[in-house]
Amino acid sequence: MIGPGTRVLVTGGSSGIGAATAEAFAARGCHVVVVGRNVAALTELARRIGGASCVADLTDPHAIDTVCSEADKADVLVAAAGQGWAGRLIDTPDGDMETLVGVNMLAPMRLARAALLGMRRRSGGHLVFVSSIAGHMAVADEAVYSATKAAMNAFAASIRHEASPHGVGVSVVVPGVVDTAFFSRRGTPYSRRFPRPVPAEAVAERIVRAVEHRRPEVFVPRWLRFPARLRGVAPHLTDALQRRFG
Ligand SMILES: NC(=O)c1ccc[n+]([C@@H]2O[C@H](COP(=O)([O-])OP(=O)(O)OC[C@H]3O[C@@H](n4cnc5c(N)ncnc54)[C@H](OP(=O)(O)O)[C@@H]3O)[C@@H](O)[C@H]2O)c1
Repeated sequence: MIGPGTRVLVTGGSSGIGAATAEAFAARGCHVVVVGRNVAALTELARRIGGASCVADLTDPHAIDTVCSEADKADVLVAAAGQGWAGRLIDTPDGDMETLVGVNMLAPMRLARAALLGMRRRSGGHLVFVSSIAGHMAVADEAVYSATKAAMNAFAASIRHEASPHGVGVSVVVPGVVDTAFFSRRGTPYSRRFPRPVPAEAVAERIVRAVEHRRPEVFVPRWLRFPARLRGVAPHLTDALQRRFG
C-alpha cells in the first residue's frame, strides 16, 4: 500500500518523531506533507524529502480547518504532534491544560474525522496516532498528559470499528522514552536512568511498519507492552511497583 503515489500527512513534522517519520515515508517514495508551527524546520524538511509543508498551530481551530483539507486528501495520516507538561495537578495552569487537550486530543480527533471521510471515498487508507506509555501507566506528575494519551488509545480503538469496513486501518504507536526535544520543550528534563531513550528514527520505522502490516498497536520498545498489559489486569500491583521503583 505504501510507495510512490501514497500521500502522507504528518503532524509534528518539524521535529523529533514526526520529522523522522516524514523522512521514513519519503524514503519509500511517498509524497509527504509535514505540519507544524516552525516554518524554517518545516520548509527545510519538505525541501529535503521533496514534500510539502503546512504551517498551522493545532490549538487554533481555524488553522486546524486548513490542515483538515490536507487530511481529506491523505492516504495515511500520522498524528504525531504533541506537547507534555510535568508537575502536580494542583500547579497546572488552565492554559497548559487547554493546550495539551487541544494539541494531543482535539486536533487528532478533528484531523482523523477529515481523513476518514476522504479515505472512505477512496475505500482505503490508514490512521496512525502517536500515543505514549503514559496513557497506559499511572505516571506521577503527568496527569493531564497521561489523560490525553489514554483518550487517544480509546478513540483509536473505537474508530477502528467504523474505519475497517471501508478498508481503513488504525494504528496506535506507544513510545516509552524517545530522544527528542520533547523534554526540554516541556521544561522538565527526563531524569530517570531507566528506561533509556530510544532514537526517534526507531519509532519512525515502527510507524511505517505498523501501516505496512496494519498493526493495531505497537509499543516502542516492544517490551513495554508487558507493563502495560500487567496494569490492565493488576492495576493495584503495578501502581505499588511504580510507587516503589518510580
Ligand atoms: N519524546 C518522548 O519521550 C515521547 C514519548 C512518548 C510519546 N511521545 C509523543 O510523541 C509525539 C512527538 O513528540 P516528540 O518526542 O517528537 O517531541 P518534539 O520533538 O517536541 O516534537 C513535537 C512536535 O509537535 C508539534 N507541535 C507541538 N505543539 C504544536 C502546536 N500547537 N501546533 C502544531 N504543532 C505542534 C511540534 O511542532 P512545532 O514546534 O513546529 O510547532 C513538533 O513538531 C508527541 O505526541 C509526544 O506526546 C513522545
